[in-house]
Amino acid sequence: MDEIKLRVEGIEKSFPGVKALSNISFRVRKGTVHALCGENGAGKSTLMKVLTGLYKADAGQIYIDEKPVEIRNPIQAREYGISMIAQELNYVSELSVEENLFMGRLPVNRFGKVDWKKVRREAIKFLKEENLSYAPDQKLKTLTVSDIQMLEIIKAITNNAQIVLMDEPTSSISEREVKLLFEKIQELKEKGVSIVYISHKMDEVFRIADDITVIRDGAVVSSDRAEDLDIDTVIARMVGRKMENVYPKEILPLGDKVFEVKNFCQKGIFDQISFHARKGEIVGFAGLVGAGRTEVMRAVYGLDPKESGEILIDGKPQTIRRPEDAISKGVIMLSEDRKEYGIIPVRSVTENASVASLKNYFYGGMSHKKKEKEDVGRIFRKMNVKTPTLDTLISSLSGGNAQKVLLARWMLCEPEIMILDEPTRGIDVGAKFEIYKLMTDIVKEGRTIVMVSSELPELIGMCDRIYVMCQGLITGCLERKDFSQEKIMMLATGLLNTSDREEER
Ligand SMILES: Nc1ncnc2c1ncn2[C@@H]1O[C@H](COP(=O)(O)OP(=O)(O)OP(=O)(O)O)[C@@H](O)[C@H]1O
Ligand SMILES: [Mg+2]
Repeated sequence: MDEIKLRVEGIEKSFPGVKALSNISFRVRKGTVHALCGENGAGKSTLMKVLTGLYKADAGQIYIDEKPVEIRNPIQAREYGISMIAQELNYVSELSVEENLFMGRLPVNRFGKVDWKKVRREAIKFLKEENLSYAPDQKLKTLTVSDIQMLEIIKAITNNAQIVLMDEPTSSISEREVKLLFEKIQELKEKGVSIVYISHKMDEVFRIADDITVIRDGAVVSSDRAEDLDIDTVIARMVGRKMENVYPKEILPLGDKVFEVKNFCQKGIFDQISFHARKGEIVGFAGLVGAGRTEVMRAVYGLDPKESGEILIDGKPQTIRRPEDAISKGVIMLSEDRKEYGIIPVRSVTENASVASLKNYFYGGMSHKKKEKEDVGRIFRKMNVKTPTLDTLISSLSGGNAQKVLLARWMLCEPEIMILDEPTRGIDVGAKFEIYKLMTDIVKEGRTIVMVSSELPELIGMCDRIYVMCQGLITGCLERKDFSQEKIMMLATGLLNTSDREEER
């Protein structure tokens, strides 16, 4: 008989207008990884928040080591040995690395003052042990999203936890870091720690899960050993129907070069970056996290400075110093960091979606709310955004659904050139397909997409050409007929470099 570490019985949780969890029961065995799978808005994060005392359940009982417990707040959760890596990275960008590490458990000296010397000492020790290259006094805002996520992961698992809840822990880290995380998970399991693991990446789930529970619309559909399941079965249970996991790619005749980036340089970050995109083309950017893809796109979009480089639209040189310049020239970017550059928390989903195309809804001194709602409603239906009403605050949407709203924002303003940085991150398999279809519609209208993605199958499935970056350089560009995971990985790891002739043609 397996030892049950965590047992949940009959958990119920409602929000105004939404029943997020209904009669949720499942059990997590000691020393195992228990995956929770379900579509965007299925209730996964809500359940995690109940387990860490962030939300109070309306009904139900939690047992740890078969003893009933009441978890009223995160501090109590920690006392019960529960720690969580949250889906939304809720960091304060002005905090330093060490402040973040010790938040909520800062050591005090005998005068009751924070012992900063000790904090510094322990932070240095910790960073060294974990092979993290940043300084303890570095502000979080100077780190990349992946660095912050890695810090969160390591913080949670070194906290002597018995139960670690991981809500999409790998959404922003590279394959190398994923490997590191999986090694850590293995170590934790051996120590008898139980892990609840949430991810939309099915291959990942099947790599590490011992048990898989599927949730649909707030209720448990099934709970089985992973070895008795396969990916297609889990997906079918998640979406409640059979799904073909294919890419709706259409090969279209391409138009003129509409977008050219020439010789972008920023010392120590990227160098000699040149690429182009044609009308009707989907151009991909592959590479390991940290290769500099996001940094290049941010510089192109005017979010970050560059030392040199030129941008041409329709063959004409353009000056883009700020995102406003880019937008006025028909170029938009969906940023990787949705928290810092995207979601407007205190606003409704409609306002969040329409904010970039207000000129369509405010003209002649009048606001045209009805049209705004019609347009937003239409795109939401297309993307399958799960929201109680069009006036709901965006902060009450599930992570994946909030993501879709941001994507809808840029879809609505119908730009000529869309730069999408990890557009399907955190989005469930069914909705991904809808987003790919939208992308196809966009290029069919003669518009252009530049897509940065860490998911090779999606790049290979949807792109016409793929540039590959490694350590700040473009190491190659592949045509669709030459796409293969192996070739891309060779270029991404620097084992191969075919960039010399590129952009000469
Ligand atoms: N604070 C809140 N207020 C109101 N409704 C909420 C709140 N948090 C979640 N919900 C609703 O509860 C439901 C479940 O959301 P939850 O965040 O648990 O989904 P999820 O399974 O984690 O999805 P995702 O894969 O997108 O992260 C959704 O319908 C969501 O809109
Ligand atoms: Mg979630």
